[in-house]
Amino acid sequence: MEKACPLQVSQLILERRSVFPPMYREQAIPRAILEEALENANWAPTHRFTEPWRFKVFTGAALQSLSDYMGDYYEQHTPPEKFSAVKLKKIRKNPLRAGAVIAICMQRDPEARVPEWEEIAAVACAVQNISLSLHAHDIGCYWSSHGIIIKANAFLGLAEGERCLGLLYMGYYDDPGLEGKRSPIGPKVEWRS
Ligand SMILES: Cc1cc2nc3c(=O)[nH]c(=O)nc-3n(C[C@H](O)[C@H](O)[C@H](O)COP(=O)(O)O)c2cc1C
Repeated sequence: MEKACPLQVSQLILERRSVFPPMYREQAIPRAILEEALENANWAPTHRFTEPWRFKVFTGAALQSLSDYMGDYYEQHTPPEKFSAVKLKKIRKNPLRAGAVIAICMQRDPEARVPEWEEIAAVACAVQNISLSLHAHDIGCYWSSHGIIIKANAFLGLAEGERCLGLLYMGYYDDPGLEGKRSPIGPKVEWRS
């Protein structure tokens, strides 16, 4: 494979934006693209090769079951004074708008050979690989750390030591020319030479 030039890498990184479900076209994402993105995730850096990333991929009818779980949970666990019909509608609709949703999970090393934060960091690196891979196919995505899914161990069938860090919603979208927003890197860097 030809090496990507620095300009292409920078362009992919700088162009990527979080793209949210209301912008999706409700179009399935080909399995081959999901597999490519997951393969790229598997090549994220990992201290001591714990390879802690675990993914549950929801497509097709499974998106309805995700929507049902999230919506039912919200209905059953939200106190009346906090309940919002608008929020419920959004929670139920989001998975159905997506071309696929990936539950982002982290499997703790059984021997705790590295601190947990390093495993979470490695999973985040893997998620960025997925995001950039999808962006290269003009598929938008965003990482949602919604409280319902963070606690959904039984629904997700998590193993001992496995923890959910959120959902990666993804979908094809009509490019609305999303504006990026960052303050300059300058003050965040201290150069020592
Ligand atoms: C770990 C993590 C969790 C996030 N959780 C949420 C979330 O729950 N809701 C949300 O709207 N955005 C969430 N985001 C996405 C951010 O809102 C988004 O990255 C930020 O607005 C910057 O926009 P950009 O990705 O287009 O540069 C999350 C991002 C990360 C890295």
